[in-house]
Amino acid sequence: MNKTILITGGAGFIGSHVVRLFVNSYPEYRIVNLDALTYAGNLENLTDIQDAPNYIFEKADITDAAHITRLFEQYKFDGVIHLAAESHVDRSIIDPNAFIMTNVMGTANLLNAARTLWKDNMDGKRFYHVSTDEVYGSLGEEGFFLETTPYDPQSPYSASKAASDHLVRAYGNTYHLPFVLTNCSNNYGPNHFPEKLIPLFINNIVNKKPLPVYGDGKYTRDWLYVIDHARAIDMVFHKGRNGETYNIGGFNEWQNIALVKLLCEKMDAKLGRNPGESAELITYIKDRPGHDRRYAIDANKINKELGWYPSVTFEEGLSKTIDWYMDNQEWLDHVTSGDYKKYYETQYTHR
Ligand code: NAD
Ligand code: TYD
Repeated sequence: MNKTILITGGAGFIGSHVVRLFVNSYPEYRIVNLDALTYAGNLENLTDIQDAPNYIFEKADITDAAHITRLFEQYKFDGVIHLAAESHVDRSIIDPNAFIMTNVMGTANLLNAARTLWKDNMDGKRFYHVSTDEVYGSLGEEGFFLETTPYDPQSPYSASKAASDHLVRAYGNTYHLPFVLTNCSNNYGPNHFPEKLIPLFINNIVNKKPLPVYGDGKYTRDWLYVIDHARAIDMVFHKGRNGETYNIGGFNEWQNIALVKLLCEKMDAKLGRNPGESAELITYIKDRPGHDRRYAIDANKINKELGWYPSVTFEEGLSKTIDWYMDNQEWLDHVTSGDYKKYYETQYTHR
């Protein structure tokens, strides 16, 4: 094996798809998946590749600087793809500190460890920071986020991600740490924790539970199938220019309420229910505080420079996603037991 690549957060939603893609596509790389296995991390996401000869799992918390340093000394990573994060806006409103610790301090610990390990020879090394479009703030009805759009984060989650992005660029500028950074729009697909809009609503539709739409439901997001995000990460890791930022998006904007109605329609058909039955579960509830109105990504730079474009249509991706959840009830049962119930009550009762 000619390279050792660290992937952080590889037991989570997007990370598990990235780990699978790298383990399967690059037998010549040793892939080390580092994850603290928080509520969002689940090794069941990776059972198909867990015994691959080029795969290693390390349970570690990126806020534990000493542990991170030891792992960098042990494995002498050639590259880092950093996805580990606290990732849910609603949880960041309940407990911002966890986000500041993991997203800011955790990223700083990784940057320090990489800088120390690579200080004498940065050739061929790369720190890839995976970030979000939410750092750009909220759009009105017009316009798109470009790589040059000024940062204007509005939630504790996006502020902590923005801080981590600034740190990565500052280490690039100050210490010449070789880095690339991407800001991606909302992902959806298999293995998505059922606290985010699409998997939460699929699960609630199956169980005939209310579908809690925040505010007027006219908030807009740009949705990308998770496998296409993983493909983009692969391309940027291997072909992206050093020190560059690339926006990644689905060219696929939806108002929440329109998306929810489409989901209901598709699920009525798949579940053999009467048309309109699931839509009756739609319940408008109190808005998220500081709710960003619209996100929309201009992903033309990555398209023009690297030839990346989403390969899965929304129609196809949504259908595959629904099928995956309907076929993986055991996975859902595992992740929705215990702490999930407490979170659900805090977030949705009395609103
Ligand atoms: P996720 O919440 O599903 O997974 C996060 C993973 O990080 C989990 O496996 C968790 O155990 C791990 N983790 C959390 N804290 C940790 C810590 N202190 N130490 C080690 N591991 C820790 O998140 P996701 O949706 O897969 O997002 C992955 C990355 O992509 C994040 O950086 C997120 O900001 C970014 N992103 C997500 C989206 C999206 O739509 N989900 C869009 C753009 C960017
Ligand atoms: P979410 O999946 O949490 O992603 P993000 O906030 O990072 O974009 O939410 C997507 C959109 O759906 C967002 O506008 C908030 C809205 N939403 C609801 O209306 N109800 C819900 O229960 C959830 C989780 C989200």
